Amino acid sequence: MNKQFSHALSPIRVNRKFYKNRICVAPITPHSSSNGELYPNEAALEYFESRARTGAGMVWCAGAKFVDVFDDGEHCTWDTETFNHKNGLNMLAERIHAHGALAGMEAHGLTPGSWRQGPPITCSDGNRFMQSPPIGQEMTKEEIKRYVEAEAKMCANLQEVGFDAILFHFGHQIPIAQFLSPLSNHRTDEYGGSLENRCRICVEILDACREATHGRMIFEVRMSATEFSEDGYDVEEGIRIAEILQEHCDIIQASCGQVTEKYMTWTHPCQHMEDHPNLWLAEKFKKSGKIHVPVTAVGGLESLQAAEDAIAAGKCDFFAVARQLIADPKMIKKAIDGKADDVTPCIKCMRCHDSDCYAHIFRCAVNPTIGYETCAEKMFPAQPERLKNVAVIGGGPAGMKAAITAFDRGHKVTLFEAKDYLGGALDFSKYVEFKYALCRYKDFLIKQIRKRDIVVHMNTEVKPADLNGKFDAVIIAVGAEPVMLPVEGYDVSNGIIATSAYGHEGEIGDNIVIIGGGQVGCETALHLADMGKKVSIIEMQSGLCPEASKTCADEIRICLEENENFTPILGAACKKVEKHAVTYTQDGQDKTVEADTVILAAGMKPKSALADSFIMDCDVPEWYVVGDCVNARTVEQATAEAYNAAMEL
Ligand SMILES: Cc1cc2nc3c(=O)[nH]c(=O)nc-3n(C[C@H](O)[C@H](O)[C@H](O)COP(=O)(O)O)c2cc1C
Ligand code: SF4
Repeated sequence: MNKQFSHALSPIRVNRKFYKNRICVAPITPHSSSNGELYPNEAALEYFESRARTGAGMVWCAGAKFVDVFDDGEHCTWDTETFNHKNGLNMLAERIHAHGALAGMEAHGLTPGSWRQGPPITCSDGNRFMQSPPIGQEMTKEEIKRYVEAEAKMCANLQEVGFDAILFHFGHQIPIAQFLSPLSNHRTDEYGGSLENRCRICVEILDACREATHGRMIFEVRMSATEFSEDGYDVEEGIRIAEILQEHCDIIQASCGQVTEKYMTWTHPCQHMEDHPNLWLAEKFKKSGKIHVPVTAVGGLESLQAAEDAIAAGKCDFFAVARQLIADPKMIKKAIDGKADDVTPCIKCMRCHDSDCYAHIFRCAVNPTIGYETCAEKMFPAQPERLKNVAVIGGGPAGMKAAITAFDRGHKVTLFEAKDYLGGALDFSKYVEFKYALCRYKDFLIKQIRKRDIVVHMNTEVKPADLNGKFDAVIIAVGAEPVMLPVEGYDVSNGIIATSAYGHEGEIGDNIVIIGGGQVGCETALHLADMGKKVSIIEMQSGLCPEASKTCADEIRICLEENENFTPILGAACKKVEKHAVTYTQDGQDKTVEADTVILAAGMKPKSALADSFIMDCDVPEWYVVGDCVNARTVEQATAEAYNAAMEL
């Protein structure tokens, strides 16, 4: 057995099934895994098989339905009843088993949509269905009975097609979890009121499913150990819930929070959360002395070492991980090979969640191959036809990713960077505590460049003619520059460009006005407000931070709203900028706000002219333009375009 990770990689038997280690792939179902089909399509098979290839001991799938679930057009609804749909599920289990992992399915706890007319059925009237507005209608006792029977039948069917385990989703305020919480359970019958009553439906589900599967499947309960909100339950009550449920299952998973704007970021820890921020909940469960079944921790795991430390310290027995294994499916294997430094870090940006929810293919900001499992190998030749001498112009995230990928394909790579540092637009992250994950990714790219035999010319403003006759291909990644609004006084004599404010916070006054409420403006505002400065944002739109992923945008907005140093000025068109004042028009009226310092954050625009000069004036036969110099966007596009260009060489 591996000595360095002797706890995280130690095998364990639970309910007669053998886990090869303690790492579980937390359920993430790309919503393209069904595309309306009632069985896992090839994308699903490939994706979940790729999860098993990570080396984890358990792969949790999510997507099987057992009632006519409220169809939100997002979630998979794999049928577990019909003969020629079940064989797809059998294939799914077997392709996971092929790699030595156990195959588990989440019973997602969504309630029926078509048993009754009207809004979806929830625990009590007026509850939310996932992130919907509060529209639920109360589940009747007859419906509870049908629901329990249907779930038991599904478990039996899944056992029959080869699944080893069921993850009962009783957390995050999704409909069945709502029964557990005083926040959402307003029932006056035997399913509401006391703690025992609130746990009743979960106990009935677990018992019925146990009976249907003859006690021979692993049952894990995913629950919110705390809901965090005032009217919900806290961790002490979470422990009491777990005490009841543990008598009916094999493992308790201590997740937390709710799928609402405010708490989503606890459930899916984002950039404002430290690494594995919810481990303390599993630890609380373990150290309470009241939980005798194994406990799984989940949320924000960044490395195998962190799982090892947690399990070795007795804080949890298993660690479930979703996004870090999306960002780098080889996290486990690289750590075992002593190459933990080569693990691509997840930047906790939730683009994966957005892409999954908004009818796009499944994407990851730092792993360009995720979501392409069925076609990645066909898209580019396994080897380049010819090895080339490649110039990469720009050492930002796109340039570095292109250089690394091209080098790894065997090309000779020279990188030119005009500044005295690598990192480009990500450089600011080193000054901001809550950008630590992004900073880690920047540093990772820099280290990967340094590890390779890539020739790097720093402080070198290369000209198109410098490349003539010396290279076979050029990848242009020259980045973006600030947009200068056509507004009187909007220039660097009156204000500081947002990205230049970082590292100079001491020179900035205590009363600040930021022009522009996009992600850069909002994050700059939060950074400075956190330091105790009074910050206002003037923004033309009615909302802030539209371009971040939904979870991150909600997180930033809520942090700003809760910060007493922050004032939003929305629906306001900037009219005039002076060194210590900004005039804007709002509701047809001109108003002026005074400031010690004005910060300019109206957005970024591609350095198109510079990029074009390398295309037009350079005698290099093959060229690609990637990242912000195509259009100023996020790491996701920079990474994907850089990777594609380097693979195309
Ligand atoms: C894209 C995406 C899809 C998810 N889908 C599900 C799901 O179908 N069921 C579920 O219980 N959790 C789902 N989750 C939550 C994860 O299982 C996990 O609890 C959460 O992401 C925290 O773990 P991590 O920080 O390791 O990603 C999803 C998370 C992401 C990012
Ligand atoms: S998209 Fe962002 S949050 Fe999701 S796995 Fe990739 S880096 Fe992590």
